[in-house]
Amino acid sequence: PTIFVVTPTFKRFVQKAELTRLSQAFKSVKNLHWIVVEDSGDKTNLVANFLRNSRLKYTHLNVRTPDTLRRHKNEKRRSKPRGVVQRNVGIQWIRNNIDPHRTPGVVYFADDDNTYDSRIFDEMRWIKGVGVWPVAFTGAVRWAGPVCKDGQVIGFHAKWGLFRPFPIDMAAFAINIKKLLIDFPKAEFLSPEKAGMLESSLLTQITTIDELEPVTPNCSKVYVWHTRTEVPKDSIIGERRMIKQGTPSDNNIET
Ligand code: UGA
Ligand code: MN
Repeated sequence: PTIFVVTPTFKRFVQKAELTRLSQAFKSVKNLHWIVVEDSGDKTNLVANFLRNSRLKYTHLNVRTPDTLRRHKNEKRRSKPRGVVQRNVGIQWIRNNIDPHRTPGVVYFADDDNTYDSRIFDEMRWIKGVGVWPVAFTGAVRWAGPVCKDGQVIGFHAKWGLFRPFPIDMAAFAINIKKLLIDFPKAEFLSPEKAGMLESSLLTQITTIDELEPVTPNCSKVYVWHTRTEVPKDSIIGERRMIKQGTPSDNNIET
């Protein structure tokens, strides 16, 4: 089966570093198809060139988050979930271009700032419906996610967010494409205003807790870390000053 990895991404100082870390986790994985969706009105050259040089199988898409779904300056930090329309465009591309009878596969939503151990992809490859596993540095604890026993999810571990129908992070599940293409051809992410509800907004449409399939095995290992990259403030501020002084860093050298 093919692993369709859908990654929303947006232009920022550290973007190429993020995409490099992901591509290196993906490059030894068999039958991985990376669907990169830029949050932008156009495809950028940086991402286009990066993907061309990556030697990965990929599809490059773009869609700008509409203004109504963007967080505005006066709004709460968590009031608008990110990457929503990008992930939905990724799902739609799979629906329009893949025949699930000819190409079996699973869909995984890999944010560009997380850290992935390649072994997670071979764990998720055999999922029949929706598979789950723990993720480090989410839920305001060391790791959060499903607690499993004998091939069943028997509960969830987290310090924050256990009120959610599916108290798991985006990086904690993968879905067999048959679920999204045949069983629930209209399912998509919504844009809930309540923090942490994005994952549940899709999962409640397509599955139940009883149906979840524990992997890694039996939810016993962490292969994904919800890392968040520090903004390199000194470089951003310093570069701005260098531009003002007329001595910017050589633009022919891409970062
Ligand atoms: C958590 C979850 O892990 C995300 O999957 C979820 O989308 C997010 O919360 C949320 O509530 O929206 P967090 O680290 O806070 O993650 O989110 P980011 O990593 O900043 O963003 C998630 C994805 O959306 C990333 O791949 C990022 O590149 C992309 N993104 C972010 C955009 O495409 N556009 C933006 O303006 C911001
Ligand atoms: Mn993140």
